[in-house]
Amino acid sequence: MKIKKAVIPAAGLGTRVLPISKSLPKEMLPIVDKPAIQYIVEEAVNAGITDILIITNRGKHVIEDHFDHSYELEDVLKSNNRSDLLKQVEGVSQLANIYFLRQKETRGLGHAVLCAKSFVGNEPFAVLYGDDVIIGQDPAIAQLCRAYEKYGLGVVGIKEVPKQDIHRYSSLKVEHLEGSLYRVSDMVEKPATEAEVLSYFSILGRCILPPEIFGILENTPLGVGGELQLTDAMKTLTQKQGMVGVDFTGVRYDMGNKLGILQANIEVGLTHPEIGNDLRNYLKELAKTL
Ligand code: UTP
Repeated sequence: MKIKKAVIPAAGLGTRVLPISKSLPKEMLPIVDKPAIQYIVEEAVNAGITDILIITNRGKHVIEDHFDHSYELEDVLKSNNRSDLLKQVEGVSQLANIYFLRQKETRGLGHAVLCAKSFVGNEPFAVLYGDDVIIGQDPAIAQLCRAYEKYGLGVVGIKEVPKQDIHRYSSLKVEHLEGSLYRVSDMVEKPATEAEVLSYFSILGRCILPPEIFGILENTPLGVGGELQLTDAMKTLTQKQGMVGVDFTGVRYDMGNKLGILQANIEVGLTHPEIGNDLRNYLKELAKTL
C-alpha cells in the first residue's frame, strides 16, 4: 500500500533554541532562504505524499501563512515582471494539500501524533519531525516508504549517534536484515544508565506508522519528562508486530539545536547556486583567522 498521508508535528516549545523560539517557531528558522519546515514538506512531496497535516499551536500561525497565498506580494511580483520569484512564491502554496491542527497543550510528541487520528483514518501514514531536516538525493521518507511496502511493518529512520549523546536520544535493539535495513525488536527513550542502552542506533526524525498506533498511544502512560512519548508507543508496537529500521542516506540537521542550525546554513549554503562560491571564499578567509 502506498503512503499518501503525512503528519508533521511542529507544536513543541523549542526550549533548546530560546530566545528566538519565543516569537519565531523553530520550524520556521531559515536554512539560507527557506524555512526548515519547507524542506520537510518538499521531502514528503518528493516521496509521493499528497496530504500533509501540520500540528501547530498558539503562536505558530506564521507556518500557516508561509504555505498560503500571499496575494499582495504575488501582485507586486507580477506587475514587476519577476516571474522567477513569482513562481517560487506561488509554488510554496501549491506543494500539497496542507492541513493544520492545533495541539492545545504541549503534552509530547506522542500526543501530537495522537491529535492526527481523524485525519489519518485507517491507513498507514508517515511522520516527519518538524525540526529534523534531512537533505539528500533520495528523500529519506521515500526510503522508509519502500521498506514499508516491502515488509508491511511500521518503519523508523535510524542512525548511529555518538556514544556520549545516546542519553539524549532513543536507543534501539536491532538485528541486520539486508543493506540499510534492520529488524527492530525493542527500544528505550533517553536511556538513563549504561545498562539501559540497547545499541547506539537511534530513531532520527522519520517514521511510518500503522493506524494501530493510535489505540496504543491512547493506552500509553506518560513517560520521560511527564510527556506522552511516541517512542513508548512504538516500543509496544515493536513488541506486538516488530518494526523495520532504515539507516537512511542523507544528512540530517537538528534545527532544534543551536549548532545544528548553523551547520545546516553553512553546509546547504555552500551548495547554493547564488551564494555558494562567495560563502566558500568567505569561510576560507575566516578559517585563516581561527
Ligand atoms: P522535540 O522534543 O525535539 O521538540 O520534539 P521540543 O519539545 O520543542 O524541544 P525542546 O526540548 O523544548 O527544545 C520533536 C518534534 O515534535 C514536536 C516538535 O515541534 C518537534 O518538531 N512536538 C513536540 C510537538 O508537536 N508537540 C509536543 O508536545 C512536543
